[in-house]
Amino acid sequence: MSSSTPLAIDFGTSNSAAALLRQGAVHRILIERGQPTLPTAVFFPADEGPMRIGSAAVEALIAGEEGRFMRALKSVLGLPLIQERRLISGRRRSVQEIIAAFLEQIRLRAEAQTGHRITRALSGRPVHFHSADAAKDAAAERDLRACYHAAGFEEVSFLAEPEAAALAAARGWRQGQIGLIVDIGGGTSDFTIVRQDGTHPRVLASHGVRLGGTDFDHALSLSHVMPSLGLGTEVRREMGPGLLPVPVAPFADLATWAKIPFLYTPETRRMVAELLRLSVAPDRLGRLAQVLDLELGHDIAFAVEAGKIAANAGEKGAAIDVSFIERDLALPLTRTALSATLRPHKTTIAAALHTTVERAGLRAAEVDHVVLVGGSSLMSLVLEAVRDLCPDAEIEHAEAFTAVVDGLALATEMRAPSGAPHPS
Ligand SMILES: Nc1ncnc2c1ncn2[C@@H]1O[C@H](COP(=O)(O)OP(=O)(O)OP(=O)(O)O)[C@@H](O)[C@H]1O
Ligand SMILES: [Mg+2]
Repeated sequence: MSSSTPLAIDFGTSNSAAALLRQGAVHRILIERGQPTLPTAVFFPADEGPMRIGSAAVEALIAGEEGRFMRALKSVLGLPLIQERRLISGRRRSVQEIIAAFLEQIRLRAEAQTGHRITRALSGRPVHFHSADAAKDAAAERDLRACYHAAGFEEVSFLAEPEAAALAAARGWRQGQIGLIVDIGGGTSDFTIVRQDGTHPRVLASHGVRLGGTDFDHALSLSHVMPSLGLGTEVRREMGPGLLPVPVAPFADLATWAKIPFLYTPETRRMVAELLRLSVAPDRLGRLAQVLDLELGHDIAFAVEAGKIAANAGEKGAAIDVSFIERDLALPLTRTALSATLRPHKTTIAAALHTTVERAGLRAAEVDHVVLVGGSSLMSLVLEAVRDLCPDAEIEHAEAFTAVVDGLALATEMRAPSGAPHPS
């Protein structure tokens, strides 16, 4: 294989994957322990040992090793935070450098597996990194491009993730059939409508919103966990009578995957100690102080994510198990409570689906296939929103975690016939 074959990379908020096209067939890189995907996570040991990525990083966190864990770094692309250098395990590093180091590891693993030097990448990108801000959106792609260059890729091009997934999904569709790809991941929801045109799906419209599984986790953490840590309680005024609500900011950050690592600062700890001194609910707020002291933010995020998945699957007795904060502390999460908390998100996804169909100039009834992609497409709220819009379409689950990378690999060979999706 020539070194000019681009490596297809799905750099996801939660999980990443890489693949190459070999003689027209998709060859997924077994990126970690014989598996084709790995968590987009990094761990820097406190002893300044080498960075670990993927499952090894998650395991270090679970084992309670001293060090700094980070996940959901993709959501920082386009934000000023990406350039800020913070002290992490003995060195000042920026998120941009950390993403570059992660992508470099992917390149090195792919090179080790193929025996070839890889200099080009075809990367997925959400339709919008930031759906409400075009300048931030453009900055996010620039940031990601810079990360790829710093990771040793000389050339990088981008393709919208759902358009890539469409290439993988539409194989075998009949001429003229209409497909709607719904890719709900950790950070974004992305939609593409295609019409099968010869052997290629032709893109009619793409649309995306910055909303994904990490936002579901955020909402569930705020509604179900943070009240036990003091959210919604009050503190006495330092001077004079009366009570004030406790500030929401530290709870909101603790409930946000990407922000957790930046909470463990002396300033935040001091602020929480001060609030605790004035608290009328010290039993609850004391838990927040303890969580910051012991750096348990990611443990909470993982517990919320596991509770979400269990409740969505309809498991009996589903709960968010935070017994690492306090023995026997488990916060029940019923399916009803899950759907009530996530109702606004369902409304957003339903509206985005509607917009996508409208932009394609179609009526929903004209959609023949709906293909669900991405881990969060397994949430029943997604299926409900899709069924409401297209009750008669055939709904298929693509391979949730690899459809995007498969399509990216297929796109590396496309010579971009007119109107067909092609790398930008
Ligand atoms: N069985 C499941 N039920 C519901 N949600 C799930 C399930 N499995 C994984 N998820 C959620 O799916 C999300 C990850 O999906 P995926 O790996 O497709 O995202 P990603 O590609 O990394 O993110 P993005 O494409 O938005 O950058 C996480 O939020 C996770 O909690
Ligand atoms: Mg994805």
